Amino acid sequence: KGGQGGEHAFLVDIAVDPVEGTDITAKMVANSVAVIALSEKGGLFQAPDTYMEKLIVPPPAAGKVDLAWPVAANLASIAGSLDRHVRELTIVILDRSRHEELIAEVREAGARVKLIGDGDVIAALSAVMRGTNIHGVMGTGGAPEGVLAAAAVKCLGGEIQGRFVPRNDGERARLDAAGVDLGRVYRTEELAPGQHIVFSATGITDGDFLRGVKFFKDGARTHSISMGHRSRVIRFSDAVHLWGDDARVTIQV
Ligand code: FBP
Repeated sequence: KGGQGGEHAFLVDIAVDPVEGTDITAKMVANSVAVIALSEKGGLFQAPDTYMEKLIVPPPAAGKVDLAWPVAANLASIAGSLDRHVRELTIVILDRSRHEELIAEVREAGARVKLIGDGDVIAALSAVMRGTNIHGVMGTGGAPEGVLAAAAVKCLGGEIQGRFVPRNDGERARLDAAGVDLGRVYRTEELAPGQHIVFSATGITDGDFLRGVKFFKDGARTHSISMGHRSRVIRFSDAVHLWGDDARVTIQV
């Protein structure tokens, strides 16, 4: 709203997960975040709360992988695009019994596996950013998290491919009502087609590239990453929030 000529209102799509990683937050384990993505209306896929099989790769591997290919073929392609051996890759996978076969396949191909308890959105960011020592995300996690990851991938580059996986008949019916084609591999542009996407994540617990919330008397300090697809700006912000008029803080670096 606002502007010189009066008020303007426009409709937006919002994807939000205020606590992405409930368990890891409760246990104060690394990488839980509060995350939000916005776009113009229709710019974010309205994913029902079901599972999604995901493949997320860094920018050089975009367009060179396929969720339908064998795991070893995708690893070889990621390695080739990064000019390294498969044994020099680290792939993030959620530590779940459903992934036993996938984990074995990645290890057999020679790559390292980083098992995480929760939080595949921040893993997606790690996979498409340089310097994190993460080169991909594989396996099945939440579908809404897949859309949040797609928004970040759209801003940062790289690629996400996802296939919806219903856990029961109820979810199958909801996917059907949403017009989801179960066999189909959805790509970044279908999961996050918007042209005005913005994405932001704030660390809750200390993580790979975001610090967690630090509380002090009458305030807290937070660390966030925010980015825009159109603006091409990626901002890291370190904020001190003071609660109450009398709150005082000694700022420390
Ligand atoms: P919550 O924030 O709902 O706890 O989700 C955390 C998460 O680990 C996601 O990052 C992931 O996509 C999903 O759960 C995996 O689901 P499940 O725990 O059922 O394997």
